[in-house]
Amino acid sequence: MSKPLRKVVFPVAGLGTRFLPATKVVAKEMLPVLDRPLIQYAVDEAVDAGADTLIFVTNRYKHAIADYFDKAYELEAKLEKKGKDELLALVQGTLPRNVRAIFVTQPEALGLGHAVLCAKPVVGDEPFGVVLPDDLIWNKGHGALRQMAELGDAEQAGVIAVEEVPHDQTDKYGIVDAERIDERSARIRFMVEKPKPADAPSNLAVVGRYVLPGRIFQLLEQTTPGAGGEIQLTDAIEALLKEQGKVLAYRFEGTRFDCGNKAGLVRATMHMAMQDPTLAPTVREFVSQL
Ligand code: G1P
Repeated sequence: MSKPLRKVVFPVAGLGTRFLPATKVVAKEMLPVLDRPLIQYAVDEAVDAGADTLIFVTNRYKHAIADYFDKAYELEAKLEKKGKDELLALVQGTLPRNVRAIFVTQPEALGLGHAVLCAKPVVGDEPFGVVLPDDLIWNKGHGALRQMAELGDAEQAGVIAVEEVPHDQTDKYGIVDAERIDERSARIRFMVEKPKPADAPSNLAVVGRYVLPGRIFQLLEQTTPGAGGEIQLTDAIEALLKEQGKVLAYRFEGTRFDCGNKAGLVRATMHMAMQDPTLAPTVREFVSQL
């Protein structure tokens, strides 16, 4: 049995400008795919990986995520009084009882690497996960983070989720150059944040799942602003690679939806609706009419 990944960090301080005007008041992580907000899918994946401590790195204006995972006294009392047990279970089930949520603020938007560094006092010196809720990964079996945690524990190495993307989109992602080990895993030779297609070493892109050692925090502290003038997690992982010689790229089992943009959110919604036998016929009928 591999060791569970106890702590998982969710960088959720972003402004979600691609979804304005909704994100004037709704945190982008609270946008729903059917009846569950994006953050719930991310949390469920972390819990599936064994996490019992969830660290949300947020900003001082975003309270919705904390409210969502908090107890809803009035609502719960009303549902209980009316005997609406199923609804009550839904409301109470956003976070399992053994799991705690910790909120840390990122005082300035200095980049993903900086956001992860804000979780240092809570994570300490142990391997931890990072989940970017924009990337919704659906899988029938165990979630992507659990698959990665098992590999990371077996190999005693950091693990980064990757997926092939169209070559003209390398400037939207961290890109890795890696040497194949087997069908799913590869040893990273080097990685670079958002290279232009002409400079990209491959089209193997980092997607929003990471399993990292606590050592990354010291490396993040030394990381200077990189692509886009931001402190990049990719640059700290590249430093980890130079130091430890072994970080793995992992092609997870599952389907990823980039819910950081409208097309991805639509696809995720349709996909999830097709998984639901009460909704699938409606989607099929509607699509055939379009
Ligand atoms: C971040 C990372 C990038 C990664 C991407 C995955 O970029 O910096 O390496 O490929 O997430 O979604 P962002 O999308 O925050 O610009």
